[in-house]
Parts: sequence; C-alpha cells; structure tokens
Amino acid sequence: MAKANEYETHDFDVLVIGAGGAGLRAAIEAHALGVRTGIVCKSLLGKAHTVMAEGGIAAAMGNVYPEDNWKVHFRDTMRGGKMLNNWRMAQLHAQEAPDRVAELEEWGALFDRTPDGRILQRDFGGHRYARLAHVGDRTGLEMIRTLQQRAVAQNIDVFMECAIRSLLTADDGRVCGAVGYWRESGRFVVFRAHAVVLATGGLGKAFRFTTNSWESTGNGQALALQAGADLMDMEFLQFHPTGMVWPPSVRGLLVTEGVRGDGGTLKNSEGRRFMFDYVPEMFRAETADTEEEADRWYTDKVNARRTPDLLPRDEVARAINSEVKAGRGSPHGGVYLDIASRRSEEYIRRRLPSMYHQFKELAGVDITKEPMEVGPTCHYMMGGIRVDPDSEATTVAGLYAAGEAAAGLHGSNRLGGNSLSDLIVFGRRAGMAAAEYAKARGEELSVNSTQVEAAIEDSLAPFSREEGESPYDLQHDLQDTMQSLVGIIRTESELVEAIDKIEQLKERASKVRVEGHRQFNPGWHLAMDLQSLLTVSECLARSALARKESRGGHTRQDYPKPDPQFAKINHVTRLVNGELQVVAEPLPEIPADLEELIEEPAVPTGIQAISQSGPAPKEGN
Ligand code: FUM
Repeated sequence: MAKANEYETHDFDVLVIGAGGAGLRAAIEAHALGVRTGIVCKSLLGKAHTVMAEGGIAAAMGNVYPEDNWKVHFRDTMRGGKMLNNWRMAQLHAQEAPDRVAELEEWGALFDRTPDGRILQRDFGGHRYARLAHVGDRTGLEMIRTLQQRAVAQNIDVFMECAIRSLLTADDGRVCGAVGYWRESGRFVVFRAHAVVLATGGLGKAFRFTTNSWESTGNGQALALQAGADLMDMEFLQFHPTGMVWPPSVRGLLVTEGVRGDGGTLKNSEGRRFMFDYVPEMFRAETADTEEEADRWYTDKVNARRTPDLLPRDEVARAINSEVKAGRGSPHGGVYLDIASRRSEEYIRRRLPSMYHQFKELAGVDITKEPMEVGPTCHYMMGGIRVDPDSEATTVAGLYAAGEAAAGLHGSNRLGGNSLSDLIVFGRRAGMAAAEYAKARGEELSVNSTQVEAAIEDSLAPFSREEGESPYDLQHDLQDTMQSLVGIIRTESELVEAIDKIEQLKERASKVRVEGHRQFNPGWHLAMDLQSLLTVSECLARSALARKESRGGHTRQDYPKPDPQFAKINHVTRLVNGELQVVAEPLPEIPADLEELIEEPAVPTGIQAISQSGPAPKEGN
C-alpha cells in the first residue's frame, strides 16, 4: 500500500495549469515550439468557464462593418474598462484577435456565416461595430472543442482531474514545478518544470449567484500570491446583467448577451424599457409612443446605432439592480428580457438555440413567446495575476499567467466577447514566452522535497482532526458574506464587516475537518479549494475597501462617482511577511498616438462608454 506522502513525478519544460481556452492555447503554442509540454486540469478536459462565453469572440475582422479595425476595438476596450486597462494589452489584443479567430477557423471551428460565406459577426455591449464572431450561442464551446482537438492531435500530455496544491520554488525564488493530487485516488503528484503557465480562470464560486461552475475557485491567483507574485485590480468583479433568476436551482445561470445583441430588450414590471431612464436626460425621448420610436430617437440623438439595452455590462447590471430595489422587478427578483415581441420564432431558435432549450427545460418558459426573467449574476474577474503585457510573465521568474486568471486587459470592466479573444491572444503569447524561457534554462530540473512534503502534510491535515467544521458550511458562509457585503453595490462599513468575517472564516478553515478517506472525497476537494477562495475573497474585499470611488465593476454607495485620482492607479496586492498588502501603483503611461484614438469629442461626456454598434442582424442573416 502506498504511504501517505509518496508521490509520482513528471518532468516538463512548460507546465500549463488549467485547460480552458487560455491554457489550451498556451500549451499548443509551447508544444509547437518544441518543448516538453504538459497540461494539468482539475476537471475533465473541455469542462471550463470558457463555455460560458456564449455569444462570441470579439475581433475587428470587419466582415459585417468594413469600417471596423483594431483601432476602434482598442478604443472600445479602453473606454469599456474606464481607462484602467493596461494600454499595451488592449493594443495587442485588438491587433491580434482577428488572426487568432482565423486560426481557429483553420483548425476546424465552424462559425456562423454571412451570406457571402465569411465569418458572421454580431453586436455586443460596448462594441461600436458588430464584431463578435460566433457559433449561435455556443461560441465558447466551439472554441474549447477546436483547441482541445488540436491539443489532442498534437499528443500533448494531459493530466485530468488533478488539482494543484502549491507551486514549488527554487532558492533564487523562480518557479520550478508544482505539487498536486489526483482527485480520484487522492495520491500526490509532483511536476518538475522550468516554466509554469497559470490559466486557471476566475473565482466566481466565492459568490452565491454565479455563472461559474465548481471549478472557479481562484486557485491560480492564490497559487501565484503564495509563490510571491503580485495580483492587481482585485476589486473589479463583473456581474453579468442577465442570469436566470428562477427556478432557484439554476439561479445565476448565464443568459447570453447575444439575446440583447440580437434585438432583445429589458423591461420592468410596468412593461417599460427602463434602460432609457439610465442615460442622461438629454438622450431620452420626451414623447415616444412605441419602442421603435424611442429607440430611433435615442440612437439619432447620440449619433449611434444601438439602444441602451446594450450599454456596457456594469451599467446595465446597476440599472437592473436599481429597478428591482425600487420595486419594479419581476416576481422572482429580476427584470424581463424580451425577444419574443421583436423576432420570429424561427430566428430565435436558429440564433439562440441554447437559450431556447435552457428556458424551456429549466424554467418552462418558451422564449419565442414569453419574456425571460433575468438579473445580475457574478460572471468574471477583471483583476488577477499581474503580468507583463507582451510575455504574460508574472513578477516571479518562470511563472506566467493568461486568461481570466491574469489582470490588465479589461481594466475596471470587461466588454462581452473580449474574454474569448483574450484567451487566444494571451494564451498564445504566454505559451510562447514560457517555451522560450524554458529553452534558455537547459535540461536540469529539480524541486525541493521539503516544500513537497510540507504541501502534502498541509493537504492531509483535515483528515487528522478529531473535531472541526465541515467545509460545506464554511463555503456557504463565505458565499453569503461575499454576495451580501461585497456585491454590486459596496459601502465602507459592509466591506469592513466582510473582511472581519473572512478573517473569522480563515480561522475556522484552519480547523476544518474532513471525514472518510482521500479517495473520491468531494468534501476534501472543497476543503482544499476553500483556502484559495478565502485568499482571493480577502484580496477582493481589501482592494474594494481601498478604492474610494465608483468605476466599472466596482460601485461604492459612499463614493458614487469616479475620482480622477483613482483614474491613475491600479491596486496591487501582494503578501509581505505573510500579510496581505494593497498598494496603489501608477498606471503605465499611454503613448500619445494611442491616447488620441480613445478621445472622441463627437460623443458627449457621460455616455462615452455607450456602445455604438450596429443593429441586430436582420432576420435572414
Ligand atoms: O453573454 C455572453 O455570451 C458572455 C460572453 C462573455 O462573457 O464574453
């Protein structure tokens, strides 16, 4: 019988942790550059939050609007992020996304088509032009399928259902491997590697209502922090405006922005298109008898081509929150999303097949005939591991990060569709840089066995306690704390209370007890993930407390406006002598020629972030 602290060892030049879009793309690139590459994922291959980006991949290909180009995409991204984005990442992203989409197509992705056979692009919030390459409402799934097939065809080693507990570091501080365990057997495994790419996604499971599934527990951010890397912008969390609100068992499940991109509108319990109330008065129609009239009036007035239902996500989520609080919500605490009165059944079923089945099967609602009930749901973390914009290198040698786990591209608010393009643009760059770094290091791999044993001992500790709470109770309490005190609208007193509660939860978690054996033990897996969840939750709450203004995905009731001082800083979180520290650091200065692209005097202040995209594709497209 194996001893508790025995482990198997595997050697790679580049180890990629996480197998969503960013991880797969990083591994494909590293492998193509001729280095030994392995992928570790705690779930099954193909099961990643990537699939929850349903509506499309943002890329200025200009297939529907030829006037689109990378400069407009760059501008939209910066303005959507309220200028806290890393300008260089936004530039690279906008410039490289079209090639990455074309590459996916070459690798077999089957996109929807324009009548003349090019990749069709749809509208999404905050994008001036219809720019999202898509596959109905299953784009993330198609991306994963394509990348997975490519990785498997390349024979890249994949370690599924293997959870990483700790990164291993050498005496000089560089990363040199990782230790984890097989979720099935509970046996430990050590990876020795020159470079590690963290592509572990977000942390949505810290919240009660979320589009994220069980995997999103902030592991990568916590691993990076423990290894000495910086996190950045942890206060910026995105609540997607439209998640299901009923039935309770599926509350939080994503309702794609593609519904609004294809013509769906939001209404309150009075049947009013309330989003018109959330734009400055000068952009509201005084008299409009029909929806079409109000839309026309608005779009003429702002010299734009779309309705306020497609404002950036932070603005729509706050508006829905306000409607519900004002007593104008739907019976189950959301608002109505209506596409039935604007599009034919054939159109809806063709363009939004997953939404049709999701509502029909889970809520008994036929979206071709009735409105959906929707409300904000925790969807995406803009903050994360601080990286160099070109190489995705973290502040620790040998450690790279890409995708939702990393910070910078999206600033304080991400535009829909920019996550899928983020994954492939920066996944590729991370894989490339990690491979080059590994090549330069030569052959020899080694890890420190004391570090390995400490990680194993810490992992097994919950089994040896005679007493202690269940990890499920702790996760429940953490989710309640984060949902009620660190949600869409924040205040100082609630954030202080949240930090206090997280401290108590950390204390309780250090004594958590797990029953049974380590084979197939979900309680143990959760006890392990709780450590990451608590770490990232604390980072989030502390950064939110430090940012005394409202901007993007961070709204402070006590500081309701953006503050020009905070417009110039990112919050960086790091561990100093075991204590979390949040410090303000100046934004990298943007070159004048790029800054010029962002300014557009023709659009009035106050709605600068408003999307000005084209009409929903005509029926028949
Ligand atoms: O609404 C959606 O389909 C989500 C897309 C995204 O988060 O990029």
